[in-house]
Amino acid sequence: MKSLVCVKDFEAEAFDVLNKNARNYFKSGADDELTVRKNGEAFSRLLIRPRMLRDVSTRKLKKNILGKSIQFPVGVAPTAFQSLVHPTAEIESAKAAASTGTIFVLSTFSNWSIEDVGNAAPGGRKWFQLFPNTEKKITLDLITRAENAGFEAIVITLDAQNFGKKRDIMREPFKLPENLKMANFEKYQTSDKSAEDIGEFVHSTLAQDMTWDTISWIRSNTNLPVILKGILNPQDAALAVQHNVAGVWVSNHGGRQIDTAIPSIDALPDVVQAVGGKCEVYVDSGIRRGSDVFKALALGADMVFVGRPTIWGIAVCGENGAKRVLEILREELDLTMALSGVADVHDITLDHVQRKKSNAMSKL
Ligand code: FNR
Repeated sequence: MKSLVCVKDFEAEAFDVLNKNARNYFKSGADDELTVRKNGEAFSRLLIRPRMLRDVSTRKLKKNILGKSIQFPVGVAPTAFQSLVHPTAEIESAKAAASTGTIFVLSTFSNWSIEDVGNAAPGGRKWFQLFPNTEKKITLDLITRAENAGFEAIVITLDAQNFGKKRDIMREPFKLPENLKMANFEKYQTSDKSAEDIGEFVHSTLAQDMTWDTISWIRSNTNLPVILKGILNPQDAALAVQHNVAGVWVSNHGGRQIDTAIPSIDALPDVVQAVGGKCEVYVDSGIRRGSDVFKALALGADMVFVGRPTIWGIAVCGENGAKRVLEILREELDLTMALSGVADVHDITLDHVQRKKSNAMSKL
């Protein structure tokens, strides 16, 4: 893995090794994929203003998230059907996060079950991502299973009650190979779902009538902290605080839902202001470098998550690949801190970044 020195190297290598079905599924975004691109560009527009003459001889990247420590503030976001890229991908992801000392979030639509992942990485920090189901009893059972398997929080995804229009996947419909399971649903399915109608099945499970009452109902049915993923508007962030959630996760789903949705990093400052320190704030979408992590923390995020990057790592070499991707982000964050005069991750502040003027933006 010596020649793979950054996340982009892993992406290029993964594109070489993956078949078209898997590559299209993971890389695609909605419509013209403008938000996919803008997620990255938005980080490039933010410029770092380093400080000099600070003692950076030792550096601290550890943080407390939901009251427990992580080694560095980059976690693994939930992505469905990870085992398209490796036979035991969700297990590899969870182990990679555990061995680097960070948080892994398991998707409702994983190919390995809540119980499998709980057993595979018992000591690691794990959160469960919930798509509220059309059947309330299934929603409640998924939550109970996550609680029993040692998951520490419920992340409710708000922005995917319908799926964005992904043209590559429409042109060549995505197929779940025969050997992969809808692992969390085996218990509930009355008939076998063929690999062909998987999109239809997944869509049919999504509760499209979800409202703020759903959040209150879920909160009243679990003692686990509840996090809302997919918030971009500060008004929703304020409502989330009113509903006593433990975290607001700023995300545009990696550009897969609304094309031309605001880049998450641009949405972050208003959300942070609306939350006013009353709960934690996380961000994802387009984070590919340690300097991106630094900028997100400067704008007020408590931690960040990456979706595709660890998928590329797993595609290249399983747990070790995902682990290396996380380590690269940690090393790059550490170096950015050292070069910016910051010894402790808590001391990264708004003063460390400057937004590039818009006339210069067009030259990017
Ligand atoms: C996702 N994402 C996602 N989110 C979620 O809450 N539940 C899910 O099952 C999935 N599935 C999924 C599949 C694929 C292929 C991708 C790329 C993404 C969104 C994910 O959690 C995260 O928000 C984005 O991936 C972040 O953007 P980056 O890091 O991929 O740019």
